[in-house]
Amino acid sequence: MRYAAITGWGMAVPERVLTNADLEKMVETSDDWIVSRTGIRERRVVGPNDSTTSLGAAAARQALDRAGLTADQIDLIVVATCTPDQFLVSEACLIQAELGGNAGALDVGAACSGFVYALSQGSVYVQAGQAERVLVIGVDTLTRFVDWTDRSTCVLFGDGAGAVVLEASDEPLGLLSTVLGADGQGHKHLYIPGWGALVPESAELFPEYRPYLQMNGKEVFRFAVRVMGDAAAEAVKRAGLTFSDIDLLIPHQANSRIIDAAAARLDLPRENVVVNIDRYGNTSAASIPIALVEAEAAGRVNHGDNMVFVAFGGGLAWAAGVVRWGSAKSTS
Ligand code: ACO
Repeated sequence: MRYAAITGWGMAVPERVLTNADLEKMVETSDDWIVSRTGIRERRVVGPNDSTTSLGAAAARQALDRAGLTADQIDLIVVATCTPDQFLVSEACLIQAELGGNAGALDVGAACSGFVYALSQGSVYVQAGQAERVLVIGVDTLTRFVDWTDRSTCVLFGDGAGAVVLEASDEPLGLLSTVLGADGQGHKHLYIPGWGALVPESAELFPEYRPYLQMNGKEVFRFAVRVMGDAAAEAVKRAGLTFSDIDLLIPHQANSRIIDAAAARLDLPRENVVVNIDRYGNTSAASIPIALVEAEAAGRVNHGDNMVFVAFGGGLAWAAGVVRWGSAKSTS
């Protein structure tokens, strides 16, 4: 049996820090409201020289270095993003242009669940023998699509990128189970209008029209609490494990109250849950790989550890998987 071990990992965030105190000067809000409702204290925001491509490429370079590989040794690049720099071509091609090589390149559009969707896709290619080495990147720059006068959304998001390299392994490492789901009827609860072939009338009427992120926060919150716990529990079951086998939960970082609910469902104490939302906010497809990189750097991830990745977001979509840590490469 072939597995897809994670042999490299990296992250990148913009330099500019936007604190809750900064937001207090922009909209009617308070540090106390933001911290108590979301757990967020500050977030990183792209500047004029940053882009989805620059962040994605920076995270990917770190992951390649860590794996001891160069871009021309990669067979496939899968990029999870809902904020590509342009429509045509794929974000994966733009990042590949920065990295070099001729790997196959494709995007996965599953919003905040995107990294787990992309990880499952990349893993399947390696497990099936269709690829030896795959680069999976989660990157988003949602602050480019935030209405900075709307306090109900502008306090939530930040920008960043995370990446992993997957390589064939004979040991049961990497993604051991996958749960993917979506409720397309919920598309209306979280979306960016007008950024597509269906041009809304308002774009023609108002030349200054900008496609801002729209969200029904309460509806998304209810959905998230339900699916995060259910999907995480199902991923553990599909891996043939029990909750007591799980060493670490790495959830999508959207709201600390949603994270607490998922941890409670798996019966995991807080110290077994990676939380960095206080420093980055919701970085969408980047949040899980960034949390993974920070957890590894802090010595919280050891060879053989079982982790649960679980995410939810626009779609409304959700995704979860059990990942076993370790970078032993295939000898065959
Ligand atoms: N500062 C101060 N007051 C605020 C702010 C703010 N930034 N934002 C909203 N309020 C007000 C509201 O106007 C409301 O006032 P009202 O009662 O006078 O009408 C009050 O605070 C309470 O608002 P609620 O919506 O009840 O607040 P809630 O406790 O639900 O928290 C939140 C809102 C944080 C948005 C929560 O609903 C949430 O986290 N939802 C999930 C959102 C999410 O995770 N989205 C990302 C999905 S990932 C992706 O795919 C991009």
